[in-house]
Amino acid sequence: MGKLNSLWSRGTDFLGCKYAIMGGAMSWVSERNLVAALSNAGAFGVIACSAMTPALLEQEIIETRKLLRQAPSTKHQAPTFGVNLIIMHPQMDELIAVCKRQNVSHVVLAGGIPKDGWIKAIKAYGAKVLCFAPSAIIGRKLIRLGADALVIEGMEAGGHIGPVTTSVLAQEILPHMKDVPVFIAGGIGRGEAIAAYLEMGASGVQLGTRFVCASESIAHPKFKECFIRSQARDAVPSVQLDPDFPVIPVRAIANKATDAFTRCQKEVIEQYRSGALDKKAAQLKIEHFWAGALRKAVIDGDVEYGSVMAGQSVGMVSKIQPVSEILEELIGQAEEYIARRKSKTA
Ligand SMILES: Cc1cc2nc3c(=O)[nH]c(=O)nc-3n(C[C@H](O)[C@H](O)[C@H](O)COP(=O)(O)O)c2cc1C
Repeated sequence: MGKLNSLWSRGTDFLGCKYAIMGGAMSWVSERNLVAALSNAGAFGVIACSAMTPALLEQEIIETRKLLRQAPSTKHQAPTFGVNLIIMHPQMDELIAVCKRQNVSHVVLAGGIPKDGWIKAIKAYGAKVLCFAPSAIIGRKLIRLGADALVIEGMEAGGHIGPVTTSVLAQEILPHMKDVPVFIAGGIGRGEAIAAYLEMGASGVQLGTRFVCASESIAHPKFKECFIRSQARDAVPSVQLDPDFPVIPVRAIANKATDAFTRCQKEVIEQYRSGALDKKAAQLKIEHFWAGALRKAVIDGDVEYGSVMAGQSVGMVSKIQPVSEILEELIGQAEEYIARRKSKTA
């Protein structure tokens, strides 16, 4: 672990854990069980607040803490975890107040550029703020606003995605962004990729897809089965039919809902063109199509009509295994890769 430890020491110091591997917050999946399992195993779990009410978030934080193992001695840090807030949530101030009351050490702000008041409020109670940077320019802006670390997430990732790949973002951002730790997300399924991004200057990584099939994940068995049988090419971004009706791209396993969404857009656009719907109503109908669809897949196990959000690394998910085993595999692969490179240069 020597070389790996030194490669990601900035990340481990920042997160306060053994491995600079964040379990990316996944709505419905990243709840107390998966988050505590990740943090107990030495990585960094992050609760997905998603659309939770402030009261539910507070409960989830309390329950997660109950599952955390205590530090074995004063020499060891007790495991910690973060909370992911999506900035479109209508009660951001209240959610931040919950994080403050519960003294959450790291808050990840997702979904766009946060208001500087929110960043200030989080930092004022002593927590660290992580923000998503889809480009170097926005990364610099976020640092000026006070972000303590950046996550750069490429379009290989599962869930809501931007237009640029992880490898291009890493090349554009890592050489120029030294002020704060940068974590790389999107498409990471093996340890070799972790080591390579660390060698490029990343302080750590964030993985989501790889942890969905953890034994500790509460995702429905059918959701997990769907991950295990899917290949990279099955995880596709949602398609937008008309430039007048924007669709936020989401990467998910193609299923019956994917086809139904295309049909829904066609019908709604025809209704708009014929005058049966005005533009706002048509856009709303398109946006509402996916409402509740992730829950339907993750919790109810409806993998045909729900949204099976998954990244391209889904092809590297082959079985259900404990978080600790997944981490061991990733770290083993990263170490082997570093050792091979070392012996080549020697
Ligand atoms: C099922 C699912 C749900 C997700 N939900 C969220 C979310 O609520 N908030 C967020 O910031 N990112 C969300 N993500 C993105 C992950 O946090 C993480 O950044 C991403 O999965 C990393 O890429 P990977 O899937 O290639 O490992 C989600 C991803 C998946 C697969």
